[in-house]
Amino acid sequence: MKITKICCIGAGYVGGPTMAIIAQKCPQIQVTVVDLNEERIAAWNHTDVSQIPIYEPGLSEIVAEARGCNLFFSTNVEKAIDEAQMIFISVNTPTKTYGKGKGMAADLKFIELCARQIAKVAKDNKIVVEKSTLPVRTAEAIKSILDNTGNGVKFQILSNPEFLAEGTAVQDLLHPDRILIGGDITEEGQKAIQALVDVYANWVPLERILTTNVWSSELSKLTANAFLAQRISSINAMSELCEKTGADVNEVAKAIGMDSRIGSKFLKASVGFGGSCFQKDILNLVYIAKSYGLNEVADYWEQVIIMNDHQKRRFSDNIVKTLYNTVSGKKIAFLGWAFKKDTNDTRESAAIYVADDLISENATIAVYDPKVVRKKVLADLDYLETRTTEANSNSILSFETPYEACEGAHAIAILTEWDEFVAYDWQKIYDSMQKPAFVFDGRNILDKTVLQKIGFVYQAVGS
Ligand code: NAD
Ligand code: UGA
Repeated sequence: MKITKICCIGAGYVGGPTMAIIAQKCPQIQVTVVDLNEERIAAWNHTDVSQIPIYEPGLSEIVAEARGCNLFFSTNVEKAIDEAQMIFISVNTPTKTYGKGKGMAADLKFIELCARQIAKVAKDNKIVVEKSTLPVRTAEAIKSILDNTGNGVKFQILSNPEFLAEGTAVQDLLHPDRILIGGDITEEGQKAIQALVDVYANWVPLERILTTNVWSSELSKLTANAFLAQRISSINAMSELCEKTGADVNEVAKAIGMDSRIGSKFLKASVGFGGSCFQKDILNLVYIAKSYGLNEVADYWEQVIIMNDHQKRRFSDNIVKTLYNTVSGKKIAFLGWAFKKDTNDTRESAAIYVADDLISENATIAVYDPKVVRKKVLADLDYLETRTTEANSNSILSFETPYEACEGAHAIAILTEWDEFVAYDWQKIYDSMQKPAFVFDGRNILDKTVLQKIGFVYQAVGS
């Protein structure tokens, strides 16, 4: 089947950028991204393309190029489903906050809603592509919903998980390590796989397009995220040992990373990993393992999360301890709120948890992040439900410049590794602060020697 019309349900961090690249690379395909969130769609359609809802280097240029030609953003979900031959489901799959599996299992209600809507609207055969990250065997549930509508339409379900990382989404999509497509072994299944391979083959070399059965594909996505997060927890565990022994975690990471079997990527010690997926996907994996009675497997992976929570808590505890066991009434400047650099996404950012701990100790947090607005910071804290909205609002100060955020502060905490932080006038910052002036570098990005020479008391993670 030759695909000429694609619909993607979900205009988020995955749906938006992925479809923008497909549209750019496949001018012969009309791509429509739909979402129930009217505000989000309006932002994607904003005449000023710098106002699109997701900040990713290079993305606004691609959207500007394709939008209105073969890339469309709309709230008319039914029309887009009806017209498309291939439908990507790219909606959120958060951790359940209620009922069985609360706090662990993936909440599939949005996925099921999509399946039901597709079943209701479809009048001809369609290929449905799971782009969201899903528990292994979800395709079975989707198929069961789609196959029981009684309108005679035939569906093929493919699993095509996304491996992009935020902040580098455009480059990751343009030059993926691999594209993974899982489908049925039947003839119809193989045809559907081929149709999707043909889409990607417009820009991805064929040897990088891997096809598997559906279950392998679904499980590979959870496995990849678990392995990546495990590396961070492993190096973070070592960071604590380094602090006790006089070893330097950066040196240890370099030394082990030069072993080609280990590799040098994803070994940066930090205040802890954040982002919408690592924690949710590992919890989901733990839940699946437990549901099969595989308790040792579940416990093994759960340690990755336990270690990450410990790392975040250890960072805030250390700030309190170093500031003479009290931060009450003190101003702590936060440089960075996003969960990593080059994104405006703050989901599960370590900054949220560190701020929450410090506010509980009566500190005032002064936040500066180049891409995150105050409204978002407050919404993140309110989501934790630790205290009232008013109490959060009174404890958070937001500033337009880093220099204002740091003025009069007792300490600075680096929570995100934005490049611009390194280039600041640190002498000017020092001069405006309370003394002794402390810097807690949760990302190990600043030069210790330079800062100490200026007069800062500087502490990094793992040294
Ligand atoms: P997101 O929250 O940014 O976007 C999801 C969008 O889906 C929202 O805008 C929401 O309004 C919309 N939506 C939900 N239900 C809908 C419905 N029934 N009809 C229409 N729209 C609906 O989420 P995201 O970060 O893009 O993640 C989406 C999926 O991709 C998740 O499963 C996630 O695990 C996975 N993933 C995310 C990343 C990432 O970097 N963010 C990377 C790889 C995979
Ligand atoms: C991650 C994976 O890298 C993607 O492959 C995957 O598609 C995605 O999750 C997903 O499924 O959502 P992302 O969370 O966007 O991507 O960003 P990462 O670069 O993986 O960083 C995650 C967190 O780990 C960040 O807080 C980052 O600062 C932290 N990190 C990363 C470290 O602390 N140390 C490192 O060495 C690397």
